[in-house]
Amino acid sequence: MKNSNLSKSLLIWYDSNKRDLPWRSTKATPYNVWLSEVMLQQTTVVTVIPRYTSFLERWPDVRALAGASIDDVLHEWQGLGYYARARNLHRCARVVVEQYGGVFPDDEAALKTLPGIGDYTAAAIVAIAFGNFSTPVDGNIIRVISRLEGLEQVMPAGKGAVRMRMAELVPAKRPGDFVQGLMDLGSMVCTVRKPDCPACPWGSTRGSTRGSARAGPCRARAGGKPQSYPRKAAKKPRPTRYGVIFWLVDQAGRVMTRRRDETGLLGGMMEFPSTPWREQDWTHEDVLSNVPVAGAGLDWQDVPGTVRHTFTHFHLELRILKGHLSSMPETAHDHAIWSVPHDFVDLALPTVMKKVAKLVYSS
Ligand code: ADE
Repeated sequence: MKNSNLSKSLLIWYDSNKRDLPWRSTKATPYNVWLSEVMLQQTTVVTVIPRYTSFLERWPDVRALAGASIDDVLHEWQGLGYYARARNLHRCARVVVEQYGGVFPDDEAALKTLPGIGDYTAAAIVAIAFGNFSTPVDGNIIRVISRLEGLEQVMPAGKGAVRMRMAELVPAKRPGDFVQGLMDLGSMVCTVRKPDCPACPWGSTRGSTRGSARAGPCRARAGGKPQSYPRKAAKKPRPTRYGVIFWLVDQAGRVMTRRRDETGLLGGMMEFPSTPWREQDWTHEDVLSNVPVAGAGLDWQDVPGTVRHTFTHFHLELRILKGHLSSMPETAHDHAIWSVPHDFVDLALPTVMKKVAKLVYSS
Protein backbone atom coordinates (compact mmCIF):
# COMPACT_ATOMS: atom_id res chain seq x y z
CA MET A 1 0.00 0.00 0.00
CA LYS A 2 1.26 3.50 -0.81
CA ASN A 3 2.46 5.60 2.13
CA SER A 4 -0.17 8.24 1.45
CA ASN A 5 -2.89 5.59 1.56
CA LEU A 6 -1.56 4.18 4.81
CA SER A 7 -1.64 7.68 6.32
CA LYS A 8 -5.10 8.37 4.98
CA SER A 9 -6.58 5.17 6.36
CA LEU A 10 -5.17 5.90 9.81
CA LEU A 11 -6.62 9.44 9.78
CA ILE A 12 -10.03 8.08 8.76
CA TRP A 13 -9.85 5.57 11.61
CA TYR A 14 -8.78 8.35 14.02
CA ASP A 15 -11.66 10.61 13.00
CA SER A 16 -14.24 8.06 14.05
CA ASN A 17 -12.43 6.31 16.92
CA LYS A 18 -10.26 8.86 18.71
CA ARG A 19 -10.46 9.00 22.46
CA ASP A 20 -12.25 11.90 24.04
CA LEU A 21 -9.41 13.33 26.11
CA PRO A 22 -9.37 16.69 27.90
CA TRP A 23 -6.24 17.90 26.08
CA ARG A 24 -8.13 17.35 22.86
CA SER A 25 -11.13 19.39 23.94
CA THR A 26 -9.08 22.28 25.34
CA LYS A 27 -7.33 24.36 22.67
CA ALA A 28 -4.14 22.73 21.40
CA THR A 29 -2.01 25.64 22.57
CA PRO A 30 1.69 24.94 23.05
CA TYR A 31 1.18 25.36 26.82
CA ASN A 32 -1.67 22.84 26.95
CA VAL A 33 0.08 20.33 24.71
CA TRP A 34 3.35 20.67 26.61
CA LEU A 35 1.62 20.18 29.96
CA SER A 36 -0.32 17.11 28.81
CA GLU A 37 2.72 15.54 27.18
CA VAL A 38 4.90 16.05 30.25
CA MET A 39 2.20 14.58 32.50
CA LEU A 40 1.75 11.62 30.14
CA GLN A 41 5.44 10.79 29.95
CA GLN A 42 5.46 8.34 32.83
CA THR A 43 1.86 8.32 33.96
CA THR A 44 -1.21 6.60 32.54
CA VAL A 45 -3.90 8.46 30.60
CA VAL A 46 -6.54 7.53 33.21
CA THR A 47 -4.49 9.07 36.01
CA VAL A 48 -3.58 12.16 34.00
CA ILE A 49 -7.14 13.10 32.91
CA PRO A 50 -8.34 14.70 36.20
CA ARG A 51 -4.88 16.01 37.06
CA TYR A 52 -4.47 17.83 33.75
CA THR A 53 -7.80 19.54 34.24
CA SER A 54 -7.12 20.69 37.79
CA PHE A 55 -3.60 21.85 36.92
CA LEU A 56 -4.98 23.97 34.08
CA GLU A 57 -7.68 25.43 36.29
CA ARG A 58 -5.05 26.49 38.76
CA TRP A 59 -2.48 27.75 36.23
CA PRO A 60 -4.24 28.34 32.90
CA ASP A 61 -1.21 29.67 31.03
CA VAL A 62 2.56 29.81 31.10
CA ARG A 63 2.68 33.18 32.86
CA ALA A 64 0.46 31.92 35.66
CA LEU A 65 2.67 28.86 36.12
CA ALA A 66 5.86 30.92 36.05
CA GLY A 67 4.41 33.05 38.86
CA ALA A 68 3.64 30.03 41.07
CA SER A 69 5.91 28.86 43.87
CA ILE A 70 7.78 25.58 43.36
CA ASP A 71 6.21 24.23 46.55
CA ASP A 72 2.72 24.79 45.16
CA VAL A 73 3.68 23.08 41.90
CA LEU A 74 5.18 20.09 43.72
CA HIS A 75 2.11 19.89 45.89
CA GLU A 76 -0.17 19.89 42.87
CA TRP A 77 2.02 17.16 41.36
CA GLN A 78 1.63 14.85 44.36
CA GLY A 79 0.99 11.24 43.44
CA LEU A 80 2.02 11.67 39.79
CA GLY A 81 5.57 10.52 40.56
CA TYR A 82 8.83 11.47 38.81
CA TYR A 83 8.91 14.83 40.53
CA ALA A 84 11.83 16.09 38.47
CA ARG A 85 9.16 16.63 35.83
CA ALA A 86 7.35 19.13 38.07
CA ARG A 87 10.55 21.02 38.83
CA ASN A 88 11.44 21.18 35.15
CA LEU A 89 7.92 22.22 34.26
CA HIS A 90 8.21 25.17 36.61
CA ARG A 91 11.72 26.06 35.41
CA CYS A 92 10.63 25.79 31.81
CA ALA A 93 7.67 28.10 32.39
CA ARG A 94 10.01 30.71 33.85
CA VAL A 95 12.44 30.43 30.92
CA VAL A 96 9.59 30.75 28.40
CA VAL A 97 8.38 33.90 30.17
CA GLU A 98 11.79 35.45 30.80
CA GLN A 99 13.57 34.56 27.57
CA TYR A 100 10.78 34.06 25.05
CA GLY A 101 8.27 36.68 26.20
CA GLY A 102 5.81 33.97 27.27
CA VAL A 103 5.62 32.42 23.79
CA PHE A 104 6.87 28.86 23.22
CA PRO A 105 9.32 28.59 20.29
CA ASP A 106 7.96 26.56 17.39
CA ASP A 107 11.05 24.68 16.30
CA GLU A 108 12.27 21.45 17.73
CA ALA A 109 15.87 22.51 18.34
CA ALA A 110 14.85 25.56 20.40
CA LEU A 111 12.25 23.56 22.32
CA LYS A 112 14.88 20.98 23.23
CA THR A 113 17.00 23.61 24.97
CA LEU A 114 14.19 24.17 27.49
CA PRO A 115 14.23 22.37 30.87
CA GLY A 116 12.58 18.95 30.75
CA ILE A 117 11.86 18.99 27.02
CA GLY A 118 13.58 16.10 25.26
CA ASP A 119 13.30 14.67 21.76
CA TYR A 120 9.85 13.19 22.25
CA THR A 121 8.17 16.18 23.90
CA ALA A 122 9.68 18.69 21.47
CA ALA A 123 8.47 16.63 18.50
CA ALA A 124 5.00 16.14 20.04
CA ILE A 125 4.61 19.91 20.59
CA VAL A 126 5.71 20.67 17.03
CA ALA A 127 3.22 18.22 15.51
CA ILE A 128 0.23 18.66 17.84
CA ALA A 129 0.42 22.33 18.81
CA PHE A 130 2.06 23.87 15.75
CA GLY A 131 0.75 21.45 13.13
CA ASN A 132 4.19 20.96 11.59
CA PHE A 133 5.98 17.82 10.48
CA SER A 134 7.80 15.90 13.20
CA THR A 135 8.26 12.33 14.42
CA PRO A 136 7.62 11.91 18.15
CA VAL A 137 8.36 8.31 19.06
CA ASP A 138 6.77 6.93 22.22
CA GLY A 139 6.11 3.38 23.41
CA ASN A 140 2.81 3.03 21.55
CA ILE A 141 4.31 4.33 18.33
CA ILE A 142 7.30 1.98 18.61
CA ARG A 143 4.87 -0.93 18.90
CA VAL A 144 2.59 0.10 16.05
CA ILE A 145 5.37 0.88 13.57
CA SER A 146 7.45 -2.16 14.55
CA ARG A 147 4.45 -4.34 13.80
CA LEU A 148 3.43 -2.57 10.62
CA GLU A 149 6.94 -3.08 9.24
CA GLY A 150 7.89 -6.27 11.07
CA LEU A 151 11.01 -4.48 12.34
CA GLU A 152 13.58 -6.89 13.76
CA GLN A 153 15.57 -4.23 15.57
CA VAL A 154 15.60 -4.67 19.34
CA MET A 155 13.76 -1.81 21.09
CA PRO A 156 14.22 0.77 22.42
CA ALA A 157 17.71 0.73 20.88
CA GLY A 158 16.17 0.47 17.42
CA LYS A 159 14.08 3.64 17.81
CA GLY A 160 15.94 5.22 14.89
CA ALA A 161 14.44 2.66 12.49
CA VAL A 162 10.96 3.48 13.80
CA ARG A 163 11.58 7.19 13.35
CA MET A 164 12.80 6.71 9.78
CA ARG A 165 9.77 4.72 8.76
CA MET A 166 7.46 7.09 10.59
CA ALA A 167 8.97 10.03 8.71
CA GLU A 168 7.72 8.48 5.48
CA LEU A 169 4.21 8.24 6.85
CA VAL A 170 3.59 11.52 8.71
CA PRO A 171 1.47 13.56 6.30
CA ALA A 172 2.09 17.24 5.61
CA LYS A 173 -1.53 17.92 6.49
CA ARG A 174 -2.71 17.02 10.00
CA PRO A 175 0.60 15.68 11.37
CA GLY A 176 -0.69 16.16 14.95
CA ASP A 177 -3.78 14.06 14.31
CA PHE A 178 -1.69 11.43 12.59
CA VAL A 179 0.72 11.01 15.50
CA GLN A 180 -2.14 10.98 17.99
CA GLY A 181 -3.84 8.42 15.75
CA LEU A 182 -0.77 6.20 16.11
CA MET A 183 -0.91 6.66 19.90
CA ASP A 184 -4.60 5.81 20.06
CA LEU A 185 -4.23 2.85 17.75
CA GLY A 186 -1.44 1.58 20.03
CA SER A 187 -3.44 1.91 23.19
CA MET A 188 -6.86 0.82 21.90
CA VAL A 189 -6.27 -1.71 19.11
CA CYS A 190 -2.60 -2.58 18.64
CA THR A 191 -2.18 -3.41 22.32
CA VAL A 192 0.78 -5.18 23.89
CA ARG A 193 -0.80 -8.56 24.57
CA LYS A 194 -4.04 -8.81 22.61
CA PRO A 195 -3.95 -6.80 19.41
CA ASP A 196 -7.37 -6.60 17.79
CA CYS A 197 -6.16 -6.88 14.19
CA PRO A 198 -9.62 -7.04 12.57
CA ALA A 199 -10.36 -3.60 14.06
CA CYS A 200 -7.12 -2.08 12.72
CA PRO A 201 -7.11 0.05 9.59
CA TRP A 202 -3.82 -1.65 8.67
CA GLY A 203 -4.76 -5.16 9.74
CA SER A 204 -6.99 -5.94 6.82
CA THR A 205 -8.56 -4.19 3.88
CA ARG A 206 -12.09 -4.72 2.67
CA GLY A 207 -12.30 -6.37 -0.73
CA SER A 208 -13.73 -3.75 -3.07
CA THR A 209 -16.21 -6.03 -4.85
CA ARG A 210 -17.40 -8.67 -2.43
CA GLY A 211 -16.84 -6.90 0.91
CA SER A 212 -14.49 -9.71 1.97
CA ALA A 213 -11.46 -9.05 4.17
CA ARG A 214 -8.06 -9.26 2.48
CA ALA A 215 -4.65 -9.24 4.09
CA GLY A 216 -3.70 -5.70 5.07
CA PRO A 217 -0.28 -4.08 4.96
CA CYS A 218 0.74 -5.06 8.50
CA ARG A 219 3.73 -7.41 8.29
CA ALA A 220 3.48 -8.62 11.88
CA ARG A 221 -0.11 -9.63 11.37
CA ALA A 222 0.73 -11.39 8.14
CA GLY A 223 3.42 -13.33 10.05
CA GLY A 224 0.76 -14.54 12.49
CA LYS A 225 2.39 -13.35 15.74
CA PRO A 226 1.90 -9.62 16.06
CA GLN A 227 2.41 -9.77 19.85
CA SER A 228 6.03 -10.79 19.32
CA TYR A 229 6.80 -7.23 18.13
CA PRO A 230 8.51 -5.01 19.07
CA ARG A 231 11.52 -7.23 19.62
CA LYS A 232 12.91 -6.68 23.09
CA ALA A 233 16.11 -7.52 24.93
CA ALA A 234 15.66 -9.78 27.96
CA LYS A 235 14.69 -7.68 30.97
CA LYS A 236 17.04 -7.30 33.89
CA PRO A 237 15.28 -8.25 37.11
CA ARG A 238 14.45 -5.30 39.40
CA PRO A 239 16.48 -5.56 42.61
CA THR A 240 14.92 -5.06 46.03
CA ARG A 241 16.32 -2.37 48.29
CA TYR A 242 15.74 -2.08 52.00
CA GLY A 243 15.47 0.87 54.31
CA VAL A 244 14.35 1.72 57.82
CA ILE A 245 12.24 4.80 58.48
CA PHE A 246 12.72 6.77 61.68
CA TRP A 247 9.29 7.93 62.76
CA LEU A 248 10.39 10.48 65.33
CA VAL A 249 7.80 12.12 67.55
CA ASP A 250 8.70 15.03 69.81
CA GLN A 251 7.06 15.95 73.09
CA ALA A 252 4.48 18.12 71.33
CA GLY A 253 3.41 15.18 69.14
CA ARG A 254 5.12 16.57 66.04
CA VAL A 255 6.77 14.20 63.58
CA MET A 256 10.12 14.86 61.93
CA THR A 257 10.18 15.29 58.17
CA ARG A 258 12.91 16.59 55.93
CA ARG A 259 13.39 17.61 52.33
CA ARG A 260 15.22 15.22 50.02
CA ASP A 261 18.10 16.39 47.87
CA GLU A 262 17.06 18.39 44.84
CA THR A 263 18.61 15.93 42.45
CA GLY A 264 17.85 12.26 42.08
CA LEU A 265 14.88 10.13 43.00
CA LEU A 266 11.94 12.09 44.50
CA GLY A 267 14.13 15.21 44.26
CA GLY A 268 13.03 18.00 46.59
CA MET A 269 10.10 16.03 47.99
CA MET A 270 9.49 15.65 51.72
CA GLU A 271 10.26 12.40 53.50
CA PHE A 272 10.30 10.86 56.91
CA PRO A 273 13.97 10.39 57.74
CA SER A 274 15.39 7.01 56.86
CA THR A 275 18.53 5.00 56.55
CA PRO A 276 19.88 4.87 53.00
CA TRP A 277 18.05 2.39 50.75
CA ARG A 278 20.40 -0.46 49.94
CA GLU A 279 20.26 -3.99 48.62
CA GLN A 280 21.47 -5.52 51.85
CA ASP A 281 18.96 -5.65 54.70
CA TRP A 282 19.73 -3.67 57.84
CA THR A 283 20.99 -4.96 61.17
CA HIS A 284 19.83 -3.18 64.31
CA GLU A 285 23.34 -1.76 64.95
CA ASP A 286 23.60 -0.42 61.39
CA VAL A 287 20.22 1.19 61.75
CA LEU A 288 21.09 2.94 65.00
CA SER A 289 24.20 4.48 63.48
CA ASN A 290 21.92 6.33 61.05
CA VAL A 291 19.56 7.95 63.55
CA PRO A 292 19.08 11.56 62.35
CA VAL A 293 19.01 13.18 65.82
CA ALA A 294 21.60 13.11 68.53
CA GLY A 295 21.60 13.80 72.22
CA ALA A 296 17.96 13.04 72.87
CA GLY A 297 16.44 10.33 75.03
CA LEU A 298 14.66 7.88 72.74
CA ASP A 299 12.73 4.70 73.17
CA TRP A 300 12.35 2.65 70.02
CA GLN A 301 9.38 0.59 68.99
CA ASP A 302 8.97 -1.51 65.84
CA VAL A 303 5.90 -0.66 63.81
CA PRO A 304 4.48 -3.99 62.64
CA GLY A 305 4.38 -4.55 58.89
CA THR A 306 6.40 -3.47 55.85
CA VAL A 307 5.83 -0.70 53.32
CA ARG A 308 6.37 -1.89 49.75
CA HIS A 309 6.76 0.42 46.80
CA THR A 310 8.10 -0.13 43.30
CA PHE A 311 10.16 2.48 41.47
CA THR A 312 11.35 2.17 37.88
CA HIS A 313 14.64 0.54 38.78
CA PHE A 314 13.99 -1.22 42.07
CA HIS A 315 11.47 -2.50 44.57
CA LEU A 316 11.65 -0.89 47.97
CA GLU A 317 10.82 -2.44 51.34
CA LEU A 318 10.70 -0.16 54.33
CA ARG A 319 10.42 -1.07 57.98
CA ILE A 320 9.51 1.62 60.47
CA LEU A 321 11.00 2.39 63.85
CA LYS A 322 8.99 4.71 66.00
CA GLY A 323 10.85 6.80 68.52
CA HIS A 324 9.45 9.16 71.15
CA LEU A 325 11.83 11.91 72.15
CA SER A 326 11.88 12.37 75.88
CA SER A 327 13.96 15.55 75.56
CA MET A 328 14.79 17.93 72.73
CA PRO A 329 17.67 16.67 70.58
CA GLU A 330 20.92 18.64 70.65
CA THR A 331 21.32 18.18 66.93
CA ALA A 332 18.97 17.19 64.19
CA HIS A 333 19.21 16.97 60.45
CA ASP A 334 19.72 20.47 58.97
CA HIS A 335 16.53 20.45 56.96
CA ALA A 336 14.29 18.93 59.61
CA ILE A 337 10.72 20.19 59.71
CA TRP A 338 8.58 19.07 62.62
CA SER A 339 4.94 18.78 61.61
CA VAL A 340 1.79 17.73 63.36
CA PRO A 341 0.14 14.89 61.41
CA HIS A 342 -2.79 17.17 60.61
CA ASP A 343 -0.42 19.29 58.49
CA PHE A 344 0.94 16.39 56.41
CA VAL A 345 -1.56 17.23 53.68
CA ASP A 346 0.30 20.52 53.15
CA LEU A 347 3.63 18.79 52.62
CA ALA A 348 4.76 17.51 49.24
CA LEU A 349 4.82 13.90 50.41
CA PRO A 350 5.39 11.33 47.67
CA THR A 351 3.22 8.22 47.54
CA VAL A 352 5.79 5.99 49.23
CA MET A 353 5.86 8.32 52.24
CA LYS A 354 2.08 8.44 52.40
CA LYS A 355 2.17 4.65 52.62
CA VAL A 356 4.56 5.00 55.57
CA ALA A 357 2.20 7.38 57.39
CA LYS A 358 -0.73 5.09 56.67
CA LEU A 359 1.02 2.08 58.17
CA VAL A 360 1.97 4.03 61.28
CA TYR A 361 -1.58 5.21 61.82
CA SER A 362 -3.09 1.80 61.18
CA SER A 363 -0.82 0.13 63.71
N1 ADE B 1 0.19 9.73 25.16
C1 ADE B 1 1.11 10.71 25.09
N2 ADE B 1 0.61 11.77 24.42
C2 ADE B 1 -0.66 11.46 24.07
C3 ADE B 1 -1.67 12.12 23.36
N3 ADE B 1 -1.46 13.35 22.90
N4 ADE B 1 -2.82 11.49 23.18
C4 ADE B 1 -2.99 10.25 23.66
N5 ADE B 1 -2.08 9.56 24.34
C5 ADE B 1 -0.92 10.15 24.54
